Amino acid sequence: MKLIITLFLLFTISSASVINEYLSALAKQAKAQNPKFTEFDAKRGEAIFTSKHIGKKGKEVSCVSCHGNDLSKPSKNFFTAKEIEPLSPKANPKRFSEVKTIEKWLRRNFNDVYNREGTTEEKGDVVTYIINK
Ligand code: HEC
Repeated sequence: MKLIITLFLLFTISSASVINEYLSALAKQAKAQNPKFTEFDAKRGEAIFTSKHIGKKGKEVSCVSCHGNDLSKPSKNFFTAKEIEPLSPKANPKRFSEVKTIEKWLRRNFNDVYNREGTTEEKGDVVTYIINK
């Protein structure tokens, strides 16, 4: 039992530090690109996550279309109806545990919804929204 608790804590801590490292690297980059940048904003992130756009497949979708409104619950992929595990790292400790995975899906999913990649500021805002929701 002790071992399980220790492993759980290690996992939780490492996932939290991946998020922090990722966000501070993005913030540095955002500041380099825009001297007026101060910090990422969950409210802007919410608008990015919930607003609908004609996406890559010509259908009106948002991030919510696949990840749902309640990020602590599993959801269904809008196109394939496949189940997607909860996006919130509070509910699903596997989330945000690897920068490579985060970047891969943000690139893919911004393209799904916005037909382009997300900017540094958009990525920071939307991740700030997801982890605080
Ligand atoms: C067409 C469906 C779809 C849409 C739309 C979508 N996603 Fe995803 N997203 C997925 C799938 C599928 C995965 C990967 C499978 C999984 O990890 O459960 C994923 C994974 C992610 C991850 C990876 C997190 C991690 O570390 O595991 C993030 C972050 C994410 N999505 C954010 C977004 C954001 C932000 C938007 C809106 C710009 C968005 N998604 C729109 C389907 C979607």
